[in-house]
Amino acid sequence: MVTKVDKDKCIGCGLCESICKDVFVLKNGKAQVKAQKNIPCVQEAIDGCPVNAISK
Ligand code: F3S
Repeated sequence: MVTKVDKDKCIGCGLCESICKDVFVLKNGKAQVKAQKNIPCVQEAIDGCPVNAISK
């Protein structure tokens, strides 16, 4: 499993970082994956991202 954020889609809403800060961090208004971790909040972030920018 490799978690990725599509930077072209990300609008920087911050939801992924707020619910899963061990994996996602916002930099310059875009989310990036800071660590690959197989934890449930990754799926919550995928489901919650308003523009479907996260995949795994
Ligand atoms: Fe971007 Fe979606 Fe996270 S818009 S900041 S990847 S919840």
